[in-house]
Amino acid sequence: MTKNITWHDGKVSYNQRCDNLGQEGMVIWFTGLSGSGKSTIAVEVEKELVLRGQAVYRLDGDNVRHGLNSDLGFTAEDRNENIRRIAEVAALFKDSGMITLASFISPYQETRDFARERAGADNFIEVYVKADVETCAKRDPKGLYEMAKKGEIKNFTGISAPYEVPENADLVVNTKELSVEAAVAKVLEAIDKRQAWIKENLEATG
Ligand SMILES: Nc1ncnc2c1ncn2[C@@H]1O[C@H](COP(=O)(O)OP(=O)(O)OP(=O)(O)O)[C@@H](O)[C@H]1O
Ligand SMILES: [Mg+2]
Repeated sequence: MTKNITWHDGKVSYNQRCDNLGQEGMVIWFTGLSGSGKSTIAVEVEKELVLRGQAVYRLDGDNVRHGLNSDLGFTAEDRNENIRRIAEVAALFKDSGMITLASFISPYQETRDFARERAGADNFIEVYVKADVETCAKRDPKGLYEMAKKGEIKNFTGISAPYEVPENADLVVNTKELSVEAAVAKVLEAIDKRQAWIKENLEATG
């Protein structure tokens, strides 16, 4: 497929882009059941980072399905393609120097690992937004659990499709126990720590 396609290098390096923005490119990947709080937390994190003057962009499940992935459905094949494209887009945003917030259920470890690999593990934070299915079903902000229980939605994660709990998430945010504010503070702290770590350890290399 890639025969006859040659990479065309630019004259601006990744480090130059980051220097201009005064930050490191990152992907913050929120995974968890529907209703666990991925979007709620990502929206607040985005707001806080922008108030600090940082360059940030948010990719979110339903939003992406309106445009980039509007041709995809919910078969296993289409779900894989959905996440594959998002992982590639997130990696491009990271390469542009943005702090990129991605909120997708992303129930399979393999696809989350793919996203990590594309972004580069040093610049990737996997956030497990943890809440059990009973809690999420009680919140049911979009009424999806109600529909799934009636069988009106097939292959619904947590009800009729599996969710693989992250085994080595960089951060676990338990939204059953933490307030939104406390969850947001934990994510911001993890971002700040990693930004400092990258500056110290990788700046001279990339
Ligand atoms: N600590 C918390 N963090 C985040 N959300 C919380 C918390 N406590 C309660 N909630 C509530 O839980 C719901 C989470 O819904 P949200 O749309 O953010 O979930 P989601 O993980 O993005 O789901 P989906 O995968 O369907 O997009 C909201 O109604 C929110 O107000
Ligand atoms: Mg959401």
